[in-house]
Amino acid sequence: MDFLQPRLLRMNRRRRIYEGKAKILYEGPEPGTLIQHFKDDATAFNAKKHEVIEGKGVVNNRISEYLFSRLNEIGVPTHFVRRLNAREQLVREVEIIPLEVVVRNVAAGSLSTRLGIDEGTQLPRSIIEFYYKNDALNDPMVSEEHITAFGWAAPQELDDIMALAIRVNDFLSGLFLGVGIKLVDFKIECGRLWEGDNMRIVVADEISPDCCRLWDVKTNDKMDKDRFRKDLGGMIEAYTEVARRLGVIQENEKIGAGGPKLVK
Ligand code: TMP
Ligand code: ASP
Repeated sequence: MDFLQPRLLRMNRRRRIYEGKAKILYEGPEPGTLIQHFKDDATAFNAKKHEVIEGKGVVNNRISEYLFSRLNEIGVPTHFVRRLNAREQLVREVEIIPLEVVVRNVAAGSLSTRLGIDEGTQLPRSIIEFYYKNDALNDPMVSEEHITAFGWAAPQELDDIMALAIRVNDFLSGLFLGVGIKLVDFKIECGRLWEGDNMRIVVADEISPDCCRLWDVKTNDKMDKDRFRKDLGGMIEAYTEVARRLGVIQENEKIGAGGPKLVK
């Protein structure tokens, strides 16, 4: 039966649509869907720093599933459909808007560096920033003027994006505070979801400790990717603790090496 092998292999091999630093997108089971696969790769500083953190993809898949499900429930539109397995989720195919939409509640990271505001300073109100997604340019910060002038998003779309970002911030701030975590800042990506002739802006990509700053309310301990950026160690332990507090993994559940490994 050897002659069957090549064809079987090809049938099992899904078409890879896109590979990013932390995720891969495959063609989904039906038109208009994709499979989002979470890798264990951790990168920072535009991928100049890179490590494989065993189990990170599994934990992020669970955390992102939980947060997107809650957002869907309260009527914040997202691309998320359902989790398929340890590392993969089914999502709706969207046209990604090439912006990193950052919302900040407390000064940290590039805001502290750029404006000389001490990390940990409560901001007078939540601040939204936009970065143009372009690795070659190092994701430069851009204004609404740039975004509309260069046509990355139309003025109405930008209004929708900002309204979504604020709703996500309000909801997630409360949700995390309920489990003893301060949502310092986070990044979302948005996409255009087409339904026939109608288009809506929805939250896409992922929401996980890779793209949020999460501090323990009592100790201010970092429970996010800053542990990796700043070489603090204990990254997977911190991500797992976030997942435990959200109730998405059980107290004694071992995540570590779970889920299918990516064969290169
Ligand atoms: P920053 O302080 O480095 O500008 O980051 C603000 C927040 O947004 C932080 O939680 C990390 C997240 N973020 C990403 O996940 N990816 C990015 O490319 C950028 C610029 C920020
Ligand atoms: N820009 C992201 C970070 O530094 C990831 C990366 O550049 O690889 O957090």
